[in-house]
Amino acid sequence: MSDLLLTPEGVRDIIPSEFKRKLEIEDKLLGVIKDSGFLHMQTPSFEYFDVFSNDIGTTPSSMLYKFYDKEGNTLVLRPDFTPAMARAFSKLYFNENGPVKLCYCGSTFVNGTELNGDLKESTQIGAELYNDDSCEADAAMISLVVKCMKAAGFNDFLVSIGNGNFFRGLCEELGIKERDEHELRQLISARNYFRAKEKLAALNVNEEFASLIVNISDTYTTKESLIELKSRTSSPMCTEALTRLVGIVDLLDKEGFGKYISIDLGLLNKYEYYTGVLFRAYTFGFGDAIMKGGRYDNLVMQFGKDAPAIGFGIAVDDLLEALSTQEQSGKSGKNEYLTFALTKGRLADKTLALLEKTGITCEEMKDKETRKLIFVNEELKLRFFLAKGPDVPTYVEHGVADIGVVGKDTIDEEMRKIYEVLDLKFGKCRMCVCGPESAKALLSTRDMIKIATKYPRIAKKYFNDVKHQSVDIIKLNGSIELAPIVGLSDCIVDIVETGSTLRENGLSVLEEIYDLSARMVVNPVSMRLHSARINELIGKLKEEL
Ligand code: PRP
Repeated sequence: MSDLLLTPEGVRDIIPSEFKRKLEIEDKLLGVIKDSGFLHMQTPSFEYFDVFSNDIGTTPSSMLYKFYDKEGNTLVLRPDFTPAMARAFSKLYFNENGPVKLCYCGSTFVNGTELNGDLKESTQIGAELYNDDSCEADAAMISLVVKCMKAAGFNDFLVSIGNGNFFRGLCEELGIKERDEHELRQLISARNYFRAKEKLAALNVNEEFASLIVNISDTYTTKESLIELKSRTSSPMCTEALTRLVGIVDLLDKEGFGKYISIDLGLLNKYEYYTGVLFRAYTFGFGDAIMKGGRYDNLVMQFGKDAPAIGFGIAVDDLLEALSTQEQSGKSGKNEYLTFALTKGRLADKTLALLEKTGITCEEMKDKETRKLIFVNEELKLRFFLAKGPDVPTYVEHGVADIGVVGKDTIDEEMRKIYEVLDLKFGKCRMCVCGPESAKALLSTRDMIKIATKYPRIAKKYFNDVKHQSVDIIKLNGSIELAPIVGLSDCIVDIVETGSTLRENGLSVLEEIYDLSARMVVNPVSMRLHSARINELIGKLKEEL
């Protein structure tokens, strides 16, 4: 086949039948949005780099498609609409101080990870409401998200609502510094509560507040619990955030949308431009939120106009994928099975032994001779499959497995959007720099050294952030100890469990990077849509650990 027939990775042709369906959905969604008074407008596909730079945009510079015009200005294909719309609004409506409602539909371009199944050109529809900072405006935008989900044809979905100001206020009240707040924000967002607990203990946060923070997503999910929570904080920012959330829920209840809403105070955005309410819509058949939005009162100011704003974007291609999956698997697409992806080998055996203690068994998996790939416990409605370690986070991120068990090393190397919910305390080992004793001296020089590893991201981060040393990284897939012996590298970065592989090959640990163990990871959509079953399992496992 001619190379001329290929399209670049991450972009594709859409066949007529699929395109017809896509246009129909786009029409429906835009129809609902326009019926709510939003005016459809267009911004250019490419703009000056500054509009999407690190200070303003949500996409790291390395993931932007950049090019130059004849004058040498750096231009960028828009990675998302919000900053572009804020720029257009600031210019076109500079003297307008009443509410302005604008909407859009078009392609966004993100030069993301290769071969990840993600589109690099995708369609986004969205709505932005400017010059209105009222609680009614927040509720109206969330209500519009619910209407869009219904118009798209979803029956079974959930819109999670949070307010980043609650967490911000809490950190302020506790005197937690910005750097620590950033780390905590990441841990809470990934539901890594056991690490958050350690971090809070190290910061000397008292137990009452520490437990409040680590239970932030699971305990305060109703309006009543928010009202109770108000009495536990003296921070005006926290009180205001909670009052706002209660007000929004009241308004949505009045519209009859309460059943689609769940409160999640752990819903935090890593992007600074979101200033208050945040929301995400989740449904079965896609491993991430398909609509995302929030309030960003400081963004428009960057373009010279002081105007509050709130908006949301719909990932049309992801929405279509969820719809197709739901259509193929029945009405709501709700899978009655909870699916586990386990790391082949020792970790799987230990996981099964632990699960058995909680009453979860899978007899089929005990047959060592079997070549089956998927195992089912029909009675408990559980499915299990075995995968290579690095593939487990991939299955979980895409939502085809709800739960995974995998080493911390693999989680850190793969950097997937998954929740790390439990330290299973087995599979303990250490990430280390190893090599012949003679290489030790190299680690305290400024010389460039060659490192062979299965973990290029972890190795790069360690040498860059901790050691400030230049390294040449060589990626290998196994038997890493071979590399320094045959002269491919000076050292290796690898996991060490008993140390016998090193000893038998005349190598030793030169530096320890950090401790590792097996972790339970969960898909963010599964965590919400199967919350009762997954939380029950987490509870039982905790008792056994
Ligand atoms: C891992 C690791 C080391 C070894 C460490 O390799 O990469 O080589 O185990 O264990 P030890 O300290 O108990 O000797 P693994 O067995 O997973 O296979 P690989 O070499 O093919 O990666």
